[in-house]
Amino acid sequence: MSKTLILCVLLIATAFSAQADIKNGKELHDSNCTSCHINLQGGDGTGIYTRENRRIESYPALIKQVKRCRDSMGMPWPKEHIDDVVEYLNTRFYKFEH
Ligand code: HEC
Repeated sequence: MSKTLILCVLLIATAFSAQADIKNGKELHDSNCTSCHINLQGGDGTGIYTRENRRIESYPALIKQVKRCRDSMGMPWPKEHIDDVVEYLNTRFYKFEH
């Protein structure tokens, strides 16, 4: 491989890894975040994100709530997990500009 090509590959890899991973966010969410929400809301629990009187009305508020719920599980999630789950929830349900 030429040096330029190697550099390109590295740059692309870096660009992708810096972005939130929505697919990973969905997996993290579906395996960790649904039990309480199902108890509260029924169905698959995602109704809590779309209910009429939902609480979250901005992207920063969404990040805060995800952290709060993460803390209530008592799991030490790294920032990347939070980013991925927030991005998943925002893409699928909240659709805030950010
Ligand atoms: C221990 C139970 C519990 C777990 C586990 C839990 N949540 Fe929650 N979550 C709640 C409760 C209770 C509310 C509703 C709070 C309210 O209505 O005042 C809520 C609400 C939310 C909301 C706001 C919904 C709205 O009104 O717009 C978001 C977003 C959310 N949770 C994300 C998550 C994520 C992400 C996870 C996994 C990391 C998670 N929750 C795990 C209990 C939990």
